[in-house]
Amino acid sequence: MNKIIIALDGHAGCGKSTTAKSVAKELNYVFIDTGAMYRAVTYSFLENDIDFADPTEVSKALDAISLKFVFNPEKGLGEIHLNDVNVEPFIRNMNITRRVSDVAAIKEVRQFCVIEQQKMGKDKGIVMDGRDIGTVVFPTAELKVFMTADVEVRAKRRLKEMEDKGEKTNLSDVIADIENRDYLDSTRKESPLKKAEDAVVVDTSGLTIKEQVASILNLAKKKIELS
Ligand code: CDP
Ligand code: CDP
Repeated sequence: MNKIIIALDGHAGCGKSTTAKSVAKELNYVFIDTGAMYRAVTYSFLENDIDFADPTEVSKALDAISLKFVFNPEKGLGEIHLNDVNVEPFIRNMNITRRVSDVAAIKEVRQFCVIEQQKMGKDKGIVMDGRDIGTVVFPTAELKVFMTADVEVRAKRRLKEMEDKGEKTNLSDVIADIENRDYLDSTRKESPLKKAEDAVVVDTSGLTIKEQVASILNLAKKKIELS
């Protein structure tokens, strides 16, 4: 059977990664969390005190970065490695989350990540989630989904996730972060977050993960049959 590319784009906290993981598992496809790449670059820039506003410094810093996903058989997932070090444990805290949209708006950073993402998807059979997958990375993806949901619902989901991890925060801070990132991601000059013309819109506000996965899987199976 032919393999396809599934692009899941949308706002923060809609359930893109969770859905992409399950859909990839069901189809025996590779899941690629492109947000992890922008987070890993942000982590590297902060660790090395890179001046985001200086394009020369940014380009030099990117030259020294290698990113790859290494499969962790225990988790059944690829984990992001920065220069051969697993940085998964360091990239999902509030410190990185607050800065990532600024780093992801830099042209050189986007070019760097997009080239890597296109290489990862060259043999198809991938479920890739992000902000610009259907518009820029794989504009010819066979299935494009644009996810959205009410901001409070998304923030409550994120808050629960953070509390489960023992991170101290509150609903209004999480809402502020999500609104700020959505704004920065949608209004930036380079590859802003927007729905691809041919994307299917899925509002996940009232959906459970199970329903969400079933709906995307259903769409994917139809596309696979046609391909
Ligand atoms: O999971 P969450 O929605 O918090 O975010 P993420 O998917 O980990 O992405 C973190 C940030 O990376 C986003 O807010 C965007 O600024 C950026 N990003 C992007 O610009 N393009 C992508 N393809 C993926 C993420
Ligand atoms: O990748 P994205 O930022 O779009 O969202 P995610 O990281 O997959 O999901 C954020 C949180 O919302 C996770 O803890 C999910 O389990 C939860 N979620 C949920 O409870 N119900 C949904 N329908 C979608 C996501």
